[in-house]
Amino acid sequence: MNKKMTINSIQKAKGVRPLVMITAYDALFATLVEESSDMILVGDSLNMSFAGKNDTLSATLEQMIYHTDAVCRGAKNSFIICDMPFGTYTDKKDALKNAIRVFQETSADCIKIEGGQEKADVVKHLTTNGIAVCGHIGLLPQSVRGDGGYKVKGKSSDEQLQLIEDARAIEDAGAFCIVIEGVKAEVATEIASCVDIPVIGIGAGNGVDGQVLVFSDMLGLFEAFTPKFVKKYMDGASLVRDAVKNYSDDVKSREFPQKIHTY
Ligand code: KIV
Repeated sequence: MNKKMTINSIQKAKGVRPLVMITAYDALFATLVEESSDMILVGDSLNMSFAGKNDTLSATLEQMIYHTDAVCRGAKNSFIICDMPFGTYTDKKDALKNAIRVFQETSADCIKIEGGQEKADVVKHLTTNGIAVCGHIGLLPQSVRGDGGYKVKGKSSDEQLQLIEDARAIEDAGAFCIVIEGVKAEVATEIASCVDIPVIGIGAGNGVDGQVLVFSDMLGLFEAFTPKFVKKYMDGASLVRDAVKNYSDDVKSREFPQKIHTY
């Protein structure tokens, strides 16, 4: 069994080897992804791929706690990140109250919040009160309605400078690592070189300190759409459909159950 990662070992990996982060939403998949990942993110993307909603905004704190608790039980040897859902960290006081709930009701190792410079005071309040924080900058899924869609960031020089400021502000506020999403590769690479903490990319190219993918995307289970940055490591949807069709055929033809399946 691999040794569980810590904030220290995650930070020491920067510049030494790329870090592997993957999402999981339940104990079963957490157990399956645990062996080959450094960190498991219980992302609010579960609102889309698990609950079938159009975006992440309606995920609730109760749901995130429920799923994080399940993931923690399935992957006891993993460093686990709980995504704080939309509306639960709008100010310092609420952020701390809600993060304390996550820490008291699950064994998550840290929380993740979306936002750059404008969230630095919230990150500082959390980290100075014993909550480890993973930042999230660039394309912010919780801001898609306000932004008018999923838009790649870092295209203009103003945006590039702002992203660097965002990363620095979150680092200065005490975050131990940052997820960077949907950012031009060369800009993300530059950002990773501007901070001392690991920068984990999703749709941010190959020059950052690690990668994160949503498990249902990389296993080919989520079919509604496939973003350009996703690599499908198997065609999970076809495998599941074929298996269920075989089961259905076997039941109808009385091929199943056989003697070995019978008491
Ligand atoms: O919710 C999520 O799964 C995420 C990843 C896309 C990084 O935040």
